[in-house]
Amino acid sequence: MNDFKGKTVIVTGGASGIGKSIAESFARKEANVVIADIDEMKGKQIEEHLNQTGLNCLFIRTDVKNETEIKELITKSFESFGAIDILINNAGISKFHSFFDLSVDMWDEVINTNLRSVFLCSREAAKLMKQGSCIINLSSTRAVMSESGTEAYSASKGGIAAITHALASTLSEKGIRVNCISPGWIETGDYESLREIDHKQHFSNRVGKPEDIARTCLFLAHPKNDFITGENITVDGGMTRKMIYEE
Ligand SMILES: NC(=O)c1ccc[n+]([C@@H]2O[C@H](COP(=O)([O-])OP(=O)(O)OC[C@H]3O[C@@H](n4cnc5c(N)ncnc54)[C@H](O)[C@@H]3O)[C@@H](O)[C@H]2O)c1
Repeated sequence: MNDFKGKTVIVTGGASGIGKSIAESFARKEANVVIADIDEMKGKQIEEHLNQTGLNCLFIRTDVKNETEIKELITKSFESFGAIDILINNAGISKFHSFFDLSVDMWDEVINTNLRSVFLCSREAAKLMKQGSCIINLSSTRAVMSESGTEAYSASKGGIAAITHALASTLSEKGIRVNCISPGWIETGDYESLREIDHKQHFSNRVGKPEDIARTCLFLAHPKNDFITGENITVDGGMTRKMIYEE
């Protein structure tokens, strides 16, 4: 039996990269997929392609920094399909700035795109979600490890890991599960151009692919996995477990 058939799944940032792979994976499972993204051209292309292949996809142009647009996204999704079963808060920007040049505007752009959007999309969707629904947030291994000059991005991802367990607690009353995924290096560009050294620095001996994250979303959203909530699953080929001594 196909457990996702006819379910409504909203994927923010679903027009490219990891979000696109997540959207396609749920569409192939015969879910109604809503892609919410600022990239109208790519979003519409995917919508058209999936619908032409007999699958169900609706693109709704949404800037996840904007509260009004988020409210419209949730209302239109609900009106189109009659339910919201799965919300995947994937939209994000990875802008890194030198710390002493980091302005309030730059900080706000990253925090509002990556973190505030999770709060707003979850709040609006959860108002309409029924028991058995779930929310999946995209954090990052940068929530727990760092390079220099990544303050805003790392803070946004740490915030996502934290809001995940807070929401899991609050929304348990409504029977809504909330989890997050912390991807490591997921190559969304030209995988073939990666070097041997890029792959070999992982226990898995390879860099990650968007499908690795899409499969984790299918696992977390599966109704049989309803004992998993408030959790943060790291999908990084073992990179955060690797001990490094420089000689
Ligand atoms: N790729 C990685 O290695 C990696 C690692 C850890 C975490 N992540 C996280 O996974 C998520 C997806 O990353 P990705 O690599 O696929 O990114 P990407 O840049 O390839 O895609 C991001 C998508 O989000 C959309 N987007 C950006 N700002 C938006 C806004 N304001 N409103 C709506 N949509 C917006 C973009 O148009 C794009 O389609 C992000 O949250 C990212 O932080 C990625």
